[in-house]
Amino acid sequence: MKKLTVDLKERSYEIIIQNDILKDVKNYIDPNKNVFVISNKTVFDIYGKYFDGYNVFLMGDGEEYKNFDTYKALLEKLLSSGIQRTDLIIALGGGVVGDVAGFTASTCLRGVDLIQIPTTLLAQVDSSVGGKTAIDTKFGKNLVGTFYQPKKVIIDPNTLKTLPERQIKTGLSEVLKYAFIERNCIDKEGETFFDYLSNCNLEDSFEEIIYKCCLMKAKVVEKDEKEGGLRAVLNFGHTFAHAIEKITNYTVYTHGEAVAIGMKCILKLAFIKGYIKEDYYKKSIEFLSKFNLQLQLDKKYNYDEVIKALYSDKKVKYGKLNFVMPVDFALVELVHNIDELSLKESLL
Ligand code: NAD
Ligand code: GLY
Repeated sequence: MKKLTVDLKERSYEIIIQNDILKDVKNYIDPNKNVFVISNKTVFDIYGKYFDGYNVFLMGDGEEYKNFDTYKALLEKLLSSGIQRTDLIIALGGGVVGDVAGFTASTCLRGVDLIQIPTTLLAQVDSSVGGKTAIDTKFGKNLVGTFYQPKKVIIDPNTLKTLPERQIKTGLSEVLKYAFIERNCIDKEGETFFDYLSNCNLEDSFEEIIYKCCLMKAKVVEKDEKEGGLRAVLNFGHTFAHAIEKITNYTVYTHGEAVAIGMKCILKLAFIKGYIKEDYYKKSIEFLSKFNLQLQLDKKYNYDEVIKALYSDKKVKYGKLNFVMPVDFALVELVHNIDELSLKESLL
């Protein structure tokens, strides 16, 4: 079992990571609490057996259900079941369930305790930790939400055994991003995460990988819970990714697939603009290539549209693009003001 704490004073919480922990999950849940599990059918059909005796509300499966309708339906079910502020909501599923259940828990009765039990790689290394909750609107993704820390995060890496391969790859991009930002997250001697990932056997190492990622995310969130600055490093590769997802209508690439392309673009941009040297650039591309991720945006797309979409990102401030730019091995800085020609070149 691996444990770590996200130290946020009175809102601190534990992340517990252990293969097969779901089999004993009830040992980690206060028996005096009235529990409401929010999940979806796909996940609950596989793991629901470990949650018998609890109230269960299933939402639709997919990003298209991360919306006001689902939120309203969940609230109505919770309230009509007589939920009280002393009760507990459990989010069991991937990032979609985690974000919606988190938003629901944070607003229902002005806040009901929440435990995140993430079952996708993306959710285990990123979305279940740090307290961001959200639903999508017709104006864009994640535009309505709260910062609401869970009381606990329980991670069973063996749930990845039932996760489709494409979803593993999606989560892998979020894992790899930590290799490029490690020095922003933690001070540490010894083997770098970049080297660890280069040499490990992925399937055998998920428990350790998830622990290392959660530790880095915890350290960032402890210093900058509400994204005043440092937390933005977690968006490495994401500015290009959001633009790519937007111009492809969120239907071609999963988020992680777009992040893989986005990481290549920002590394190339950093090289073109002289922020990193050629040897680190080449080493980085070689590293990303090892994981069989597509790094090149399909040539059939209009790259000018990607540039246009970059400017519509919700993180654009005063018309300036903000990039999490690699500047050295495993180190990034926030950089603004990049010329359009270089942006386009980095997509090629
Ligand atoms: P997802 O939640 O849609 O899950 C992907 C698919 O895998 C779904 O069909 C799901 O039902 C299925 N699934 C989940 N666990 C499974 C398992 N163990 N076995 C078999 N199938 C399983 O996608 P995701 O990639 O986990 O999350 C994406 C969402 O996360 C996006 O909405 C994104 O905005 C959000 N996100 C939030 C944060 C945050 O900090 N809150 C960070 C990153 C991403
Ligand atoms: N996934 C980015 C963040 O939590 O800030």
